[in-house]
Amino acid sequence: MPFPDGTADFRSDTVTRPTSEMIQAMASAPVGDDVYSDDPTVNLLEEESAAVTGKEAAIYVPTGTMGNQLSIMAQTHPGEEVLAHEGSHVRSIEAGAPQALSGVGFRTVIGDGGRIEPEDVERAMSMSGFFPRIGLMVWENTHNLSGGRVIPLDVMEKTSGVARAHGLKIHVDGARIFNAVAASGVPVDRYAAVSDTIQFCFSKGLGAPVGSIVCGPADLISEIRYLRKRLGGGMRQAGVIAAAARVALAGRDRLVEDHALARQLGAAIAEQFPDAIDPSLVETNMVRVQFAALGMEWPEMKARLDGAGIKVNPPLGGGWRIVTHRDVDASDADRLLSILP
Ligand SMILES: Cc1ncc(COP(=O)(O)O)c(C=O)c1O
Repeated sequence: MPFPDGTADFRSDTVTRPTSEMIQAMASAPVGDDVYSDDPTVNLLEEESAAVTGKEAAIYVPTGTMGNQLSIMAQTHPGEEVLAHEGSHVRSIEAGAPQALSGVGFRTVIGDGGRIEPEDVERAMSMSGFFPRIGLMVWENTHNLSGGRVIPLDVMEKTSGVARAHGLKIHVDGARIFNAVAASGVPVDRYAAVSDTIQFCFSKGLGAPVGSIVCGPADLISEIRYLRKRLGGGMRQAGVIAAAARVALAGRDRLVEDHALARQLGAAIAEQFPDAIDPSLVETNMVRVQFAALGMEWPEMKARLDGAGIKVNPPLGGGWRIVTHRDVDASDADRLLSILP
């Protein structure tokens, strides 16, 4: 569905707006006070999310950031480190929350496409003595800063097995886990099974206006419920937004369409600028372009984008991320291609 002002917005899948089905569900949602666990719509969403991920329980939270941070807080102690990819969202783009809220640092790994290999865990765990203890390992699938790459299930299983043998807890930042599912065909409960907790977002490609969820064992989710209140995340009649999240979850198979559009864009850019992109790395709804290979400075590109009514975030570390979602279509993609040098 195009934006009312005609803008083509490729900045992120978070810009998606609720569908009319979501708005209808929101308008008629039965609600109650969720801090008393009285909201039937939130309760249904939590039950459905736990069932789909194969976990015992789930808790609805306002954002993916809160879901990740509660999962870290509940599974670490101050002074510990979290083992994660260097480019993980929890470490890089959550405003220093792990350090500020949980008092933890990071032991980082630089693997292709967000991967963490068994030997990375062995290396990290071999540093004993007065090195900080590692309490938790975090996966991110799909991996945002690598351009929406999918971490293969077998990599997650092997590495997580080693991490568990060392006594680590495991969290999956699955903000876009259903993109991984749509791309790989692996059911979400298989990805979730490697973890203690998994967080996923309704408010990205799934299209809901607000909300994420953490799924895991009942005792851990109950502790996270307590900590959510501490952070001010108890939302009362949250069924109003959970209703849209339920519609989003039910419609998750649609993500394949975003992937097809991203592949089309990636292939067209590769044809024109072979050094800018390897189209085989367009695995989900993100197209990551080496900006310098386009042969144009950002200010000029920005002027062209503005002139054509297109929004794309500026390049970050040389990589230019173009994101497809339900509110952009093939004609928007053509418009973007037409302004490239
Ligand atoms: C991989 C990943 N994790 C977590 C988040 C945080 O989600 P939110 O913006 O809802 O806090 C994002 C947001 O873009 C993300 O890309």
